[in-house]
Amino acid sequence: MFAEINGIRMAYTDEGEGSPILFIHGFPLNRRAWSGQVEAFKPRFRVIVPDLRGFGESGSSEGAVTMGRFADDIRALIQHLGLGQVILVGHSMGGYIALAFAKAHPAQLRGLVLVGTKAGMDSPEAAKSRRASAAKVQREGPLALVEAMAASMLSGPDAGGRRVAAVRACMVPASTEGITGALLGMAMRPDSWDVLDALRAPTLVVAGAEDAVIPPGESEALAKAIPNAHLRLIPKAGHLVAVDQSAAFNVVLREWLAGACQDQRQEGI
Ligand code: MLT
Repeated sequence: MFAEINGIRMAYTDEGEGSPILFIHGFPLNRRAWSGQVEAFKPRFRVIVPDLRGFGESGSSEGAVTMGRFADDIRALIQHLGLGQVILVGHSMGGYIALAFAKAHPAQLRGLVLVGTKAGMDSPEAAKSRRASAAKVQREGPLALVEAMAASMLSGPDAGGRRVAAVRACMVPASTEGITGALLGMAMRPDSWDVLDALRAPTLVVAGAEDAVIPPGESEALAKAIPNAHLRLIPKAGHLVAVDQSAAFNVVLREWLAGACQDQRQEGI
């Protein structure tokens, strides 16, 4: 499906009925990265999964795309669909966007799930390296970056290369504008520690125990800083935990949705 959102044509999946759960993909992925969750949760929930600006089948725009701008797109999609409060699930860059959303629109959150992400901003060196990657992608196109990142997203060896091929499929077609815009936007993002303490929505923090891109210690720090957060580390899973260990990830999310998320809502937290 497509909607006109803040000047771009945004592609999204919208399946199932019930309380809305909106999944935000990471960088440089697209909504296919959440296919295993669409299938698992659509029998009980309304599952919405957009392609972010510049990724998948969505249109792109010129220049840096800040996490706040991505969050504004998510908010506009929620309004377009008349969803009201949502449970927001963000992976990695999608987590940075979910935290920007939580800061701007706390009343819109029914629950928050932060997956393989972190609250800190880039160090000056990391920001410089992102700007250099953006310049390289502008010169040479997105393929080299996609190839290098696909292999780093999973845990353990991939003898036949089939799992990496599946990850690659979740990364194309990311446009040059999409990749450079997100890299420049991530390089300039502020840290989100102030958002965590103010979070009142029930929150689940999940990471792959073998995440080599954003180490699980970052999730431990997030969970410590968020009042009443639940932390789950999934064994034998890398950065793209919901693809790498899809079944285990779905069990963790389902349990939290049925337990902690429900309980805290009943207590009015
Ligand atoms: C992601 O998976 O979204 C990225 O690795 C996040 C980042 O580069 O900070």
